[in-house]
Amino acid sequence: MRAKNAVHIPFTVAKSAQTLDGKIAARTGRSKWITSTKARNFARQQRENFDAIMVGVNTVIKDDPRLTSLNKNHKLLKVIVDSSCRISRQAQVFAGIKQGGCLIATTKKASVRKMNLLAREGVEVVQCPQQRDKVNLLWLFQYLYQRGIRKILIEGGAQLIGEALRLNLVEQMHIYIAPKILGDEQALNSVVGLKPLDIQQGILLKKIKVIPIDQDILVIGNVYRDR
Ligand SMILES: NC(=O)c1ccc[n+]([C@@H]2O[C@H](COP(=O)([O-])OP(=O)(O)OC[C@H]3O[C@@H](n4cnc5c(N)ncnc54)[C@H](OP(=O)(O)O)[C@@H]3O)[C@@H](O)[C@H]2O)c1
Repeated sequence: MRAKNAVHIPFTVAKSAQTLDGKIAARTGRSKWITSTKARNFARQQRENFDAIMVGVNTVIKDDPRLTSLNKNHKLLKVIVDSSCRISRQAQVFAGIKQGGCLIATTKKASVRKMNLLAREGVEVVQCPQQRDKVNLLWLFQYLYQRGIRKILIEGGAQLIGEALRLNLVEQMHIYIAPKILGDEQALNSVVGLKPLDIQQGILLKKIKVIPIDQDILVIGNVYRDR
C-alpha cells in the first residue's frame, strides 16, 4: 500500500515476459511461449503474493488466459480493464470465478445489456470514470484499495503497463527475459505509450535483483521516483 497525494492505492507490481529485444508478442499478437516452462511456473507461483491480478482487455482477447492462482485456497480477484465491455462472455477468465471473483472495470461506453448479462453471471462490473477515453486507472486503484485490495499484479499488456507507469501507479517491475531476439519492429514492445524525449526521461529501476531461471533471467527492480 502507498499513499499517492494523500489517497491510498494498492502496492502494484507489473510483470512481463519478453525477448532480449524487449518484445512481448510477435506481430500476429501471439505470445506463447516466450519464456521457459520453469520461468512460467515461477511467475504463476508469484500470483499467490497478490490480492488481485489485472490485465487489459486486449490481453484477454488475444491470449484468453485463466489468470488463476496455483493455490486453490488463495482468493485472487481478476480485474479486466475494458472501457467498452468488449470481453467475450466465453472468456476463460470467467472459469472458476468463485475462487476469487472477477471484476470488469468499464466506463459508460459499455452497453447496459452486456454489463447486466455479465453481472447476472456473477461478474462484478464497475463503471469507472474515463480518462483519455479509457478507464481512469487512478480512480480504479483507489476503488480497489477501498474494496480491501492491498497488492495488485499487472500481467500486461503493453498499453496497460505503460499507462500505469505513466500515472506513477507501479512500485516494482518483474521482467522475465528469454534469450531470444525477434528483430521485428512490428512485434509488440513490452511497454508502450510513454513518450520520453531523451534517455534521462525514461523510467529508472533501482535496487535491481537478477535471478536466473533455467535459460531465462528475472529482473526485479523498484520504480525510481525522485527524479
Ligand atoms: N509476454 C507477456 O508478458 C504478455 C503479457 C500480456 C499480454 N501480452 C500480449 O500483449 C498483447 C496485448 O497487449 P496490448 O498492449 O495490445 O493491450 P492490453 O494492455 O492488454 O489492453 C489494452 C486495452 O485495455 C483497455 N483499457 C481501458 N482502459 C485502459 C487504460 N486506462 N490504460 C490502458 N488500457 C486501457 C483499452 O481497450 P478499450 O479502449 O477497448 O477499453 C486498451 O486498448 C497481446 O498480443 C498479448 O499476447 C504479452
